[in-house]
Amino acid sequence: MGPFDWLPYAPLEPVQLDWLDGVELAVLRLDRIDPLISGNKWFKLTEHLAQGRAAGASGIISLGGAHSNHLHALAAAGKRFGFATVGLLRGHAQDTPSVLDLNAFGMQLHWLGYGGYRARHAPDFWGPWREQYPHLHPVPEGGGGLAGALGCAVLVEQVRAQLSDIGWADYDGWWLAAGTGTTLAGLVLAEAGAHPVYGALAVPDDHGVAQQVQALVQHGYQLLQASRGGFAKVDPELLAFIDATEHACGLPLEPLYTGKALLALKQQIEARRFVCGTRLIFVHTGGLQGRRGFPSLSSGHPRV
Ligand SMILES: Cc1ncc(COP(=O)(O)O)c(C=O)c1O
Repeated sequence: MGPFDWLPYAPLEPVQLDWLDGVELAVLRLDRIDPLISGNKWFKLTEHLAQGRAAGASGIISLGGAHSNHLHALAAAGKRFGFATVGLLRGHAQDTPSVLDLNAFGMQLHWLGYGGYRARHAPDFWGPWREQYPHLHPVPEGGGGLAGALGCAVLVEQVRAQLSDIGWADYDGWWLAAGTGTTLAGLVLAEAGAHPVYGALAVPDDHGVAQQVQALVQHGYQLLQASRGGFAKVDPELLAFIDATEHACGLPLEPLYTGKALLALKQQIEARRFVCGTRLIFVHTGGLQGRRGFPSLSSGHPRV
């Protein structure tokens, strides 16, 4: 497996939106690095892939839901770069657009049910899977953990290298969606206190993200609740905001992560959290393939 010398470069694009009220915003477009291996996923995978390679693995086994952006990108990467992929899925077999893609990419799927999936943090969870797939390297849900975070550190370099292109000498902080908090932790590690990182939680507080992040980084970030009633809960205000944003500046968002994160920023600006002239980097973490589950939004993602 590997080596993988593909290091995609994400463009940094200033955006104008009427609610910014003097705050300046530039979007790091991880959704534009590749049509299929989109968003923060490849960055979170790079260190895991390096560890798998060092261990002599011939592929990756990982977990996720029936709409998982992580499994989608992993399966696409396995197909593109020629390594085996196995996905352990939450719930019972169903053909979502994402699952149809996983099959088309050649990922071997196992459905664990809900109880079986809940057991994923148990100490003996991986034992039987390691026996069945001794040559595959296990990657935690969402590509998380320290390895996942370290792979995201390069994003800070990519932003700094592009600042002069957009006429900025510096910036005042990062704003992004947090699901496991892995991408946020990677930015915090790379910033080493130079700029704060704000994470808009796409999941409720009882998902333990604060504790997971705290295990990786202790300072230099803030988490705020942005899940709007629960993970994957969608409401008309959110969908209207996504639609209005795309019309206003051409930025496509999806409802689970990036839409909620940008809407949370709007609310914080309305609450005067940031003074006029503050410069923020918003990380577009991808996930546009997930828009296919929302008929009112155009797909925004190529057909496989
Ligand atoms: C589109 C999208 N944005 C953000 C996130 C959250 O990233 P993290 O789990 O690193 O916090 C995810 C999930 O991994 C995602 O699919």
